[in-house]
Amino acid sequence: MREESGAVTTWASGGWVEEDGIGSATLRRLVEAWPRRAAVATSSDVLGGPATYDPRVPDYPLRMVPFAQHPRFLAATGEQRRQVLTGLWIGYNERVIATEHLIAEPAFDLVMRGVFPGSDQPLVRQGVQQAIVDESFHTYMHMLAVARTRELRGVRSRPEQPALVTYRRLREVLATMPEAWERDVAVLVWGAVAETCINSLLALLARDDSIQPMHSLITTLHLRDETAHGSVVIEVVRELHARMNADRRRALVRCLPLALEAFAEQDLSTLRLELVTAGVEGADEIIGDLRATPAGRRLVRDFSGAQRMIEQLELTHAVDFDFPERPEWSPGVGVRG
Ligand SMILES: [Fe+2]
Ligand SMILES: [Fe+2]
Repeated sequence: MREESGAVTTWASGGWVEEDGIGSATLRRLVEAWPRRAAVATSSDVLGGPATYDPRVPDYPLRMVPFAQHPRFLAATGEQRRQVLTGLWIGYNERVIATEHLIAEPAFDLVMRGVFPGSDQPLVRQGVQQAIVDESFHTYMHMLAVARTRELRGVRSRPEQPALVTYRRLREVLATMPEAWERDVAVLVWGAVAETCINSLLALLARDDSIQPMHSLITTLHLRDETAHGSVVIEVVRELHARMNADRRRALVRCLPLALEAFAEQDLSTLRLELVTAGVEGADEIIGDLRATPAGRRLVRDFSGAQRMIEQLELTHAVDFDFPERPEWSPGVGVRG
């Protein structure tokens, strides 16, 4: 996109198009599709019905467990391994909810509060408010998932979880920024990276037919919304970036790799907690061995959405981050429009 206040020129398939500050055609299509796409508008009834629950079916896919083949884990009882999978599923939901509250919603709120020039455009406001409604419904879905799982599996207590690693890293970055405008850019960047990357994590569960059908249904509904959010966020960030001054643009470029690194970080303490809670012997050994492997240091994430955002901002050469190959299970960020 080429900058200037007032008219903005964007690249469309046919060439450069003038869009006089009313938002892109892509954003318009995304906003108009919301009533047909949003889980809250189309699928809220599926959560109310009695869920079929076969206790023999696991809550979380074993193939996503990085220590699944570790001899100490294999030596645990079947019930302990089952408890670990249930704990991983509940923890996954807890972290999705925390990501909505601590990373996605604060970024959307900043846009709605109008702290960035360009965020007063009706289409931007409409698209972002739709996303806020969606996020609230996602929290509700995942909250129900936790409550149901705890009830059906008889999980009376949960170990206290560490703060979300991505949020810890955001706080650390914010602590180095004396200026409010700079902190606003950091929050926006963290939100934008979350919104363009969360879909891959959801897709892993949504497509899995080895777990409880209700779990994959919830993640499928969430995934559909997030695929659209990824595209909405790219359009919104393009609109805002086009109107940023040089200082804000520099802050955005500085924050992007920091946010991407934060989202690539593997927090092994959450895995250890589930092993310890289930009483698996050798939890520290399992985690220690995992730490020595590439999977123990870095999450396999699909960053193609964030990569596309950076391309659209024409910042590919300015952002210092080693993008991994796109994993084959990746759904990508939604088709434009
Ligand atoms: Fe969400
Ligand atoms: Fe979202």
